[in-house]
Amino acid sequence: MNMKTGESWIWWKHGVIYHIYPWSFQDSNGDGIGDIRGIISRLGYLKALGIDGIWISPMYKSPMVDFGYDVSNYREIDPVFGTMEDFLELIDKAHEQGIRVILDMILNHTSDQHPWFIESASSRDNPKRNWYIWKDGKKKERPPNNWKSPVGGNAWRYDATTGQHYLHSFFEEQPDLNWRDAELPGVFFDEMKFWLDLGVDGFRLDVINMIAKDKKFRDNPLVLGIPAFQKHLYTRNRKRSIAIAAMIRQLTDSYENRTTIGEIYAPPPGDAKTAARYLAKGKEGIHLAFDFSLIFSIWNAHSYFKCINTWYKNLPDGGWPCNVLSNHDLFRSIDRFPLRTNREEKAKVASTMLLTLKGTPFLYYGEEIGMHNTRIPKRQIRDPLGKRYWPVFTGRDKARTPMQWTKEPNAGFTTGIPWLPLNRDIRSRSVRQQEGDPASLLNHYRNLIKLRKTSEALQRGSWNPVTNGQQGILTYFRNTDDERILVILNFTGRYKSFSLHEHTYGKILFSTHRNTEEFMYFQNMQIGPYEATVCLVSE
Ligand code: BGC
Repeated sequence: MNMKTGESWIWWKHGVIYHIYPWSFQDSNGDGIGDIRGIISRLGYLKALGIDGIWISPMYKSPMVDFGYDVSNYREIDPVFGTMEDFLELIDKAHEQGIRVILDMILNHTSDQHPWFIESASSRDNPKRNWYIWKDGKKKERPPNNWKSPVGGNAWRYDATTGQHYLHSFFEEQPDLNWRDAELPGVFFDEMKFWLDLGVDGFRLDVINMIAKDKKFRDNPLVLGIPAFQKHLYTRNRKRSIAIAAMIRQLTDSYENRTTIGEIYAPPPGDAKTAARYLAKGKEGIHLAFDFSLIFSIWNAHSYFKCINTWYKNLPDGGWPCNVLSNHDLFRSIDRFPLRTNREEKAKVASTMLLTLKGTPFLYYGEEIGMHNTRIPKRQIRDPLGKRYWPVFTGRDKARTPMQWTKEPNAGFTTGIPWLPLNRDIRSRSVRQQEGDPASLLNHYRNLIKLRKTSEALQRGSWNPVTNGQQGILTYFRNTDDERILVILNFTGRYKSFSLHEHTYGKILFSTHRNTEEFMYFQNMQIGPYEATVCLVSE
């Protein structure tokens, strides 16, 4: 509780959330694939890291064409991850440790093996026909319009049984649900209620900005006249998607203390303005939305400044930001920083930014120990995108390799054969090794999270930039009435000078280069290469 404002501590606003890719977090039964009991066994680690909630990528029953993002039963746990009893135990044990559990909810499509789709495909007059998007082709087998899938190729597939095409925004094994149908939303919300009733604390809403399509099925405009490149005008961010997001908010608000986070994917450089539309005005929108701009930012203080500033400026009244650097679909951020130099130092600067910005920080598993992308040999690629586009695009597996717990073979992840190869650096990069090193990235994350937890200003304060990063350093205040925190981030490998005129000095709370508890004087400061320092400002 904030004594002054009376606002209580809200886990999804003031806490830190950790994204688990269940395939790769911890295996408990030696089959080489991570599972629920594995996650349970690592709750102590998450607690020690200071995590308040976990978002787990899908674990529902699935043929696993897209590694769980193709669901064939929303009310069952896939045996690869364990049983429903295991899951219930996970919720209980996580809650005992004060860790909330967020599931991934895939609304845009199901698997083609889902009984709903099997029925829908069985005849044109099946009662579930309209739960999916079926259309006549232009000339029988020619697709109804020009819509392309972001995974490549046509977004329509002709089905000879009923002589119509169905829409699949992703792989053809992932038919799109029809959110304009009168019945479907209610049916789908029942699937969500099932998990809310079991005590799940919220949902990450997979591609929520894609769920509703143009009513008239108009052709998307082409980019540079090339059919494969489209502006997704009629397939993304339709008003209906935003309306459904608001309905989901109502649904989750009928339970206590739950949350929703929308994936509002936009291609580089991201689109904060659109992401903010899903937050609407406070409770008319979802609780949080991922803006991809920070993920796509180049390594440059001014570029980060612009992303952050745009994101905050676009937030509606009462809208709360969240921030993220990596996820399971993109390269790990540590390897996106250009020039493979000083990656560890850059990771410390980036994470200091992430954990001192206004908004809920999301960490991607392994980020806290600086796990790298792993080069996967062609024969071991699992991601269908990698299989389809190798060698031009080798897929998303590189950011999904097993968590590196120890330096033993298989890194303490499994006693079996891991489903994806481990990174070759396991001997020099693991949780165990970093735990004992006060200067490690892991301890950097732990200390920052601890600091965030003790500081009202870092959790709730306003964000007031001092410099806009043009000189290579980004500096900002996080302020409440009682606390003024200054964050100084040097994104360059050179010394930078910096002065703050309205305040004289402050106490160092956290720094990559300086001793904490000492005082820092704000005139003619020399900021070291890749320095990240957080100060409590004295008047
Ligand atoms: C998920 C991806 C998935 C896609 C289709 C996404 O944005 O994050 O992993 O392939 O949705 O469900």
